[in-house]
Amino acid sequence: MPMFFAAVLLAYLIGSVSGSLWLGRFVGVDIRQRGSGNAGGTNALRTLGWKFAFGVVVIDIGKGALAAWAGVALHDADAPLRASAQGFACVLAAAAGHVWPLYHGFRGGKGAATLVGGLFVLWPAATPLLFAAWLLVLTATGYVGLATVCAGALLVPAALFVAADARPATLAFAVLAAAFLLFTHRGNLARLRAGTEHRFERARVWSR
Ligand code: G3P
Repeated sequence: MPMFFAAVLLAYLIGSVSGSLWLGRFVGVDIRQRGSGNAGGTNALRTLGWKFAFGVVVIDIGKGALAAWAGVALHDADAPLRASAQGFACVLAAAAGHVWPLYHGFRGGKGAATLVGGLFVLWPAATPLLFAAWLLVLTATGYVGLATVCAGALLVPAALFVAADARPATLAFAVLAAAFLLFTHRGNLARLRAGTEHRFERARVWSR
């Protein structure tokens, strides 16, 4: 059990490395002062262009994958938890690090890319399905936040009906990750209701 807590702590510290906030230091920009104020890939694309956003997404997905790998690798030999369950716990801890980063005053992003990175390692079969749903909602509505919440919600039926192993750990992760994304996107949902949510403007973001 001590190794479980060490792995979760390590995952939180990995997750606290925010792609947009670290890269922003190189260009003298705190992205939290721009656009939607979110320290994530979407706001980076919106305010600083696709090259910067690409670096942000690589870091944020990469740290989720690293946390998942660390969670699976660092477990007690007599672990009461299965390695994959610990991996999922570490991915959630990394996403929490992204949202409340230790190195950046506990003000970060929304954790979607970090969760995706963890899925690439622990449940890769889910990623094409989620990406397709995300793209569909984004194309239909133009709202990235809404697309992300919908894709996150799809994790639950995917865990129940599509996951080949249907382990309790997969379902628990799906429920927690969906709820987590709903919570971190509560501002986006409130803006949607108020009609003030930022739309994804393809022409403008790719012209930078
Ligand atoms: O997950 C989508 C999220 O990144 C939306 O970001 O900047 O539109 O609040 P933003």
